[in-house]
Amino acid sequence: MPTRAKPCPTGSEHGGRLTRASVGRMRVGVLTGGGDCPGLNAVIRAVVRRGVQEYGYEFVGFRDGWRGPLEGDTVPLDVQAVRGILPRGGTILGTSRTNPLAGDRGSRSGVERIKDNLAGLGLDALVAIGGEDTLGVAAKLNDAGINVVGVPKTIDNDLGATDYTFGFDTAVNIAVEAIDRLHTTAQSHHRALVCEVMGRHAGWIALHAGMAGGANVILIPEQPFDIEKVCAYVQHRFQTRYAPIVVAAEGAYPAQESASVGDQGLDAFGHARLSGVGQMLAEEIEKRTGIESRSVVLGHIQRGGTPTAFDRVLATRFGLHAIAAVRDGDFGKMVALRGTEIIRVPLAEATSELKLVPVDRYAEAEVFFG
Ligand code: F6P
Repeated sequence: MPTRAKPCPTGSEHGGRLTRASVGRMRVGVLTGGGDCPGLNAVIRAVVRRGVQEYGYEFVGFRDGWRGPLEGDTVPLDVQAVRGILPRGGTILGTSRTNPLAGDRGSRSGVERIKDNLAGLGLDALVAIGGEDTLGVAAKLNDAGINVVGVPKTIDNDLGATDYTFGFDTAVNIAVEAIDRLHTTAQSHHRALVCEVMGRHAGWIALHAGMAGGANVILIPEQPFDIEKVCAYVQHRFQTRYAPIVVAAEGAYPAQESASVGDQGLDAFGHARLSGVGQMLAEEIEKRTGIESRSVVLGHIQRGGTPTAFDRVLATRFGLHAIAAVRDGDFGKMVALRGTEIIRVPLAEATSELKLVPVDRYAEAEVFFG
């Protein structure tokens, strides 16, 4: 793969890599990796539309995240292929949690295989759309000499270096609609209802959905909870003649125990598959207070379906700026939102730390507990 292009005698350089003047008509690969997320198709569409219409580039789609470049599995990707996909959930390219840096890949490493496949396809650069794991791989491949630009995706909104990731707003709105509905059924039956939302390391979805939905208490992974305190909030809410909704992130856990709740194995990046805290809470609340309690796990409903207008616009802007970074030869970068501006940050920096809910943001929500 012409990943280390000859320096351009006329153009400016970014870290000794390709420059706009040196690259001319480029061929660019696009992939979506990790958990899917509303807005992925909007990014793909923006990358291809600007790339073809403004820069005259050609595109190749890779199937199923890093599995595509690893195995050379591609799909055609032109303007026709991206027509009508702006409001569609999921990803037309497919996704997976394949980790090309892990495991035994035979005589050639995952990096070598990807390099060979990209070279065979005549690709000059890669746009990788993903979360901490996908972009962590992108950073390593960039270090190995592959021209990569990253786009931050995750409903969890836990990527450092960007104020928001697309998909988060949609997930929060889905959760808020569910909480609104749970309020009316909880009230009718005089029950406590526990709503478990996604967020394994960071409680952003729980925080925003819980605040917007008027939760009785919000539990997040950053703040281990005291089950007695949760029960006290629930009892107090009943005294006000209003049925409580407890919103819990899947990664929330009791302060009294060190282990996280639920054990359903690990994914390819070594993350625990979580689920179970909602059920555990409902059982404990009922046992300790005598109040009938049930739990609902929203799970993948939060990742499916059409993106909100906010996510469509953010995803589209990320896509436009990602392909502009390719045009500028500004590789090893991730596009990010700062305030209302789209900026570029080093991939390594963007993937070095997760963005967790700060104590003061949680304290704002706590005013409404109980
Ligand atoms: O990272 C996004 C996320 O939705 C997490 O909130 C959740 O823990 C995980 O993905 C679930 O992944 P999978 O769909 O692979 O089970």
